[in-house]
Formats: sequence, C-alpha cells, structure tokens
Amino acid sequence: MPALGSKNRIYKPLIQHKGTVIFYFCSMIDQATIERILDASQIVEVVSDFVKLKRRGVNYLGNCPFHNEKTPSFTVSPAKGIFKCFGCGKGGNAVNFIMDHESLTYPEALKFLARKFHIEVVEKEETEEERQQKDDRESMMIVSGFAQKFFTRFLWNENEGRAVGLSYFRERGLRDDIVKKFELGYCPDGKSLFTDEAQKAGYRMEYLEKTGLTIKRDDWVRDRFSGRVMFPIHNMAGRVIAFGGRILKEDPKAAKYLNSPESEIYHKSNVLYGIFQAKREISRVDKCYLVEGYTDVLSMHQSGIENVVASSGTALTPEQIRLIRRFTPNVTILYDGDEAGIKASLRGIDLVLEEGMNVKVLLLPQGEDPDSFARKHSATELLNYISENETDFIQFKTKLLLKTTEKDPVARARLIQDVIRSVAVIPESITRAVYIRECSKLLNVEEAVLYNEVRKILRSRTERQGGQLPPETPIKPRTQPVIITEQPGELINEELELLRFLMKYCHSPLFEAETENPNETEIVTVGEFIVGQLLEDELVPEKPLFQIIFNETTEKLNDENFRPERHFIHHSDARVSQLASDLLAEKWVESKRWSKAGSFTEKEEEVLEWLVPRIVNEFKLRKIKEMHLALEQQLDQLHKDKNDTELFEVLAKIQNLKKVEKYLSDNLGSRAII
Ligand code: UTP
Ligand code: MN
Repeated sequence: MPALGSKNRIYKPLIQHKGTVIFYFCSMIDQATIERILDASQIVEVVSDFVKLKRRGVNYLGNCPFHNEKTPSFTVSPAKGIFKCFGCGKGGNAVNFIMDHESLTYPEALKFLARKFHIEVVEKEETEEERQQKDDRESMMIVSGFAQKFFTRFLWNENEGRAVGLSYFRERGLRDDIVKKFELGYCPDGKSLFTDEAQKAGYRMEYLEKTGLTIKRDDWVRDRFSGRVMFPIHNMAGRVIAFGGRILKEDPKAAKYLNSPESEIYHKSNVLYGIFQAKREISRVDKCYLVEGYTDVLSMHQSGIENVVASSGTALTPEQIRLIRRFTPNVTILYDGDEAGIKASLRGIDLVLEEGMNVKVLLLPQGEDPDSFARKHSATELLNYISENETDFIQFKTKLLLKTTEKDPVARARLIQDVIRSVAVIPESITRAVYIRECSKLLNVEEAVLYNEVRKILRSRTERQGGQLPPETPIKPRTQPVIITEQPGELINEELELLRFLMKYCHSPLFEAETENPNETEIVTVGEFIVGQLLEDELVPEKPLFQIIFNETTEKLNDENFRPERHFIHHSDARVSQLASDLLAEKWVESKRWSKAGSFTEKEEEVLEWLVPRIVNEFKLRKIKEMHLALEQQLDQLHKDKNDTELFEVLAKIQNLKKVEKYLSDNLGSRAII
C-alpha cells in the first residue's frame, strides 16, 4: 500500500454503521433508548443466536445464513461491531443483521434487540394529536384482529361456516394447513351477525365503521362481508389490516371479490397480499414471484413455492415495488395467458424497471392462472416451467407487440417508440446498452438509431427536471455495422465510475494499513487509495478530461480544505464542470452493481471498504483487456510478417496479462479483495 497519507490527521471512526440507519422510521422510540440498544447489542452475541461462530484471530467466522455455502465466508468483527459475508456481500451492524435475518423493519429490530438485552423501550413523548392518531390506528388493527379471529372461528367451528366456507376451500383443493396458515375465514350470511358480536364484545362502532367491516347508515347497520369467504390481508409485521371477501353465490351484479375500503391502516397501493408469509423465503432464494390474485398465492404456497405475493388485481405501484425491493431485486411476474390483461400490466412493468429491478415475465398457457396451473403440477414441474419459460421483460414486450404489428408500418413505429420508452427508464447505462443490443436484433433496427431515441427521451426528461444535459452521442452512419464503443478520448464507464468516487469520497477513510512501525497503523483515504493504485500500476488513462480531474485531485490529496465536489462542479473548464455535475447528480448515486449484491439498508458510503477496491479492480481489468486486445492485433501482424523474435516477446506479454486478468476477475468474483 503506498504510504500517501499524512499520519497526524484526525479521522472519524472507520465504519459508521452505527447511527447511519434511517432514524425517521422510529420516531416512537426516543434517541437515548436507541443509543442504549445499539450499545448493548454486541454483534457476536446477536449473531451467535443464529449462526455457529468460530473464533478466527480477532474476528469470528461462520456459515452465512443469507445464502447457501459449505465453506464459511461469513465474518463478524467484534471490534468494528459489524458482520460481512464475503460470499454474498451482505453486511452491516447488529440491527441490520436482525432486520435481514428476521425480516423486520428498523424499529421492529430495535425492539427485538431491546427484548434480548433487557432494555426497557421508552416511547417518545407524543403530542395529543399523534397519540390520538396512533390510538385510532391501533384500535383499528385491534378490531381487524378480532374480526379475523371471529371469521376463522366461524369457518372451523360453526355449522354454516363448515358447510359453506370450509367446504368451498376444500372443493377448490386447498389443504387445511394452508387455510390455517393464511388465517382464512368465513363471514356468516345475515344482516349484521358479525357487527352484533363485535359490539357485544365491546368493540366500538367508530372503529368497525372506519375499518369498513360494518356499513352504517342513519337507520341501519350491516356487515360488509356477509356470506363471503374471508382472506385477511396482513401487513409486514403480520397484523391484519384489511380483508378480501369472495362471494360464493352466482350473482352477476355483485363483485366477485369485495375488499376493505381505504383507511388509516390500509392503503391498497402500499400493500402486497402475502408479503408477511413470503418475506423470509423471498430473501432466502433472492427472488419474488408476483401474481394477481389471492388464490394464486395460496396455491403456490400449497405446492411449496413460498416466495410469492399478489398485487390483488390493481396495477402495480412504486410503493409495492419498494416492498419487494427490501428483500430482493429479482422479480418474475406471472401472467395468465389473457392478452388484454397482459397489455394492461405492461404499463406497470416500466415502474419496476425504473426502480432498477431485474424483471422477468412468464406467460402461462392460455386459460391458466398461477392458481389453476399450480394445482395441476408439482412444485418441481412448476419451477421447471418457470425457469424454462421466463423471459427478460423487454424481449417479452417486444415479441408480444411484434405479433400484432407485423404488417402495419405505423403500428410498428409506435411499437419501437414504446419499447424504447421502457428501455429509457432503466437507471443504469450498462443495462440499457445490453437491452438496446437485444432490441436492435429483435426489431431489426440499428443500435445507433435506438440509442439516439433513448437519448432523446432521457434528454427531454432531464430538461423537464431542470437538470444537466447528458452529452450527445454521435450517431454513426447508417451503413456501418454498429457496435457501441467509445469515441477516442471519450470516457468509458469504468473511468467515469472511478472519477465519481475520487471526487465524491476523496477524504473518506477507507481502511487501515500497516506502516513501517509495527505498532502503528495508518488510515488510507479513498482518494489516496485510488491515486496510489493507478500511479503504481501506471494505468492513468491519457484522456484529457480524466487527466485534469485526476491530476488536480492528486495535487490536493493532503489538503483538508480541498472540496473536490465543489471544485470540479465550478471548474473553469466547461467540459470538466459538466462532467462533474453529471457524475455527482443524485441519479448516479445508487450504484446498481452494489445494490444487487447487498441489503437495502446500506448506502454506498457505508460499504466503501469493499466497493472502492472493487471499482478499482474493474477499472484495471478493463484496461488490461484493452492492452490484451492490442497485443493480439500486434500478434496477428507479426504472424503475417513472420517476425518470430518479436512474436515470442508479444506472446510472453500476453501470457503475463492473462495471469493478471485471471487474478483480477477472480477477485471480482468473490468480492473479497482486501
Ligand atoms: P381474478 O378474477 O383473476 O380472481 O382476480 P382469482 O384470483 O382467479 O379468484 P378465483 O380463482 O376466481 O377465486 C384477480 C384478483 O383481482 C382482485 C382480487 O384481488 C383477485 O384475487 N379482484 C378481482 C377484486 O378485487 N375484485 C373483483 O371483483 C375481482
Ligand atoms: Mn382463479
């Protein structure tokens, strides 16, 4: 490690996990209590409840609970108070561990730890209004919980419930254990049997009405769900917040499913049916199936596939997507084979893409929904069918629309626009490039044309948002085969990423390095590390923009007053200031490579320790590959010239590069770089 740092600077603690977690979530627990919980939560003790740890030097080692592994790569550092899996990339502090492992929210995890370490949770002093609102919500949840127990009891214990409700579920082929697991029930047929019971048990009309369980007019009350089988809807923590009720009679005038109305505890667009029962499995297999209906979720669980949630017939919302994203970026949407439905939901998918999720789509055979399909097939068959037939969403959309526009040039042009719009919402440029290549083949349109269309959309969007214009990509002449490569002097992605980290985190402490004095360590900053690595390997690109930013940063590396972000955004060279503001704009902040691997709670700046070396490695790998390619071309020429002496020299160089390449890509693969 090059010793570029000055030793007498004062640094903040190396890892700042503690306290960086989102606090606004937990306004109900006061700050002092949170501090006490964090202090008490010794990482080794917390993790040991779930993972068998062995001491290894100053650290502890075990098998990662978040992915399947035989050789342990899950490390716990008691000194830093963190865990880190070098296999799957998950890492964080004790609270993060509990959140991930137990699928809890931040305040839930805090309370979990408080219980473990016998800390009394002092709830924050609330205003009258806050208390009222909380009391209201709490009362509504309590009523909903009562209703669920009432409906479930009625289903199992009363004649009408068994004869009508339970027999309906059984006729549909649902096993009793699934009916129990999802706390299904039955609301007796009658005017207000449920409401009367609830009032008798002391529940107030106000909350029965607010939850929509009871419909009240001036001179009458009645049960909303009478005569229906009941599907309780749980929130993330497992509490009942609403219901769906399915009608059993043939009645073309009545809705097949009746749902609870919107209320203080139930916002339909923020809820996914089944998330409580599915969350653990979603994060374990790192994938979520998205279906449409209640019964689809039930049947898939019954066949053993538990990582499934339903959007309950509504178009998918961003809030719902964020719920899934807490557990995985990988979603497969299962459509029934009905074209109208598919087209309607395609609109929803753009939203999913926009969140940077990996979306796949599976079309079921005509006339089947996941429920009917799962009932006819075993879990293995279903999973095989899925893995053989799920397609990447852009391909799916393109193929589907192509079928309908074969002979109509105007429709075709519209289709291309439509597909392009979907590509344009993808936040990451590399992924966009991959999609563009694919679409170019499918649509038989040159990449450059598609590229330019995407750019137009992006540009009009940044203009609308008052942002900076992205630099123009020159279109290559139509006749040439088009490959997306950079122009000479134009910066490639790896270089851009490196510059961004250099500017953004220049002074952030990265890790400790040994010094000549065995009793002393020294802290290396991100800036020092990146500069050191590039100089050492003589890999500084000779592109002017790169050089300006790199050299000016290098000079000021030890100047604490140097603020690279401000410096470069206000740079006198317009190209530099343009690039800096592009790179430092928020949209760049979320590095997808990282959010794919890690948990949602951590931010880029919390994982610099492994992210920065990784980015440097990716950059090096790219450079090495370029050198390799150039040598191969030289080799060809030498072959032709029959110049054997130089040929062997070049061959030796290539051998050497290959070794470096392998070393770098192995390190990237395992993510264990330092
Ligand atoms: P479906 O009509 O596909 O119902 O609606 P389903 O899930 O296959 O139900 P079964 O098999 O007939 O019992 C899909 C979802 O749309 C919502 C429900 O959430 C349903 O599960 N929906 C449907 C309603 O909210 N209201 C309705 O009237 C119909
Ligand atoms: Mn159905």
